[in-house]
Amino acid sequence: MEEKNIQEEGSCCNCMDEKLEKELDEILEKYTNSKDNLIQILNEVQIKYGYIPQIAQRKISEYLGIPMAEIYGVITFYSRFTLKPKGKYAISVCLGTACFVKGSEKIMERLKQRLNISEGETTPDGKFSIDATRCVGACGIAPVFTVNGEVYGKATVKKLDEVLDSLQ
Ligand code: FES
Repeated sequence: MEEKNIQEEGSCCNCMDEKLEKELDEILEKYTNSKDNLIQILNEVQIKYGYIPQIAQRKISEYLGIPMAEIYGVITFYSRFTLKPKGKYAISVCLGTACFVKGSEKIMERLKQRLNISEGETTPDGKFSIDATRCVGACGIAPVFTVNGEVYGKATVKKLDEVLDSLQ
């Protein structure tokens, strides 16, 4: 009996893994197995899941014949890729030069203080995550932060507080 329960639990996990594997296969089928497609594939996976799951790293590694360590290196090199799921509201503060000199660090500090998490983390309820970005191409309205890609320019701590209040 106990064995049956274990099997049922296991099959449930397997179903989720199978679904994910199937979806990943569908993504991979769109690309040839050239190594040059790595970034595009990672991009698509990141957009679909909000992060790069471990299983995706393995499948991409097998498909493109690239070692897992190399894929991990690429994911951690580019700030747009993440290894953990982002929050419902993914907030990024630009720490590029133009934003930095206009005080974006203060905005980052306030954000971390309000949400009680650090850069690269997600709140325990999964609602917010914080990231730092390097120039989002909106230097003319520096400093900026983004919420799910929406840009808030000429940002101040007060403006950040208002946005957070409206989302909480
Ligand atoms: S440096 Fe922040 S948008 Fe360019």
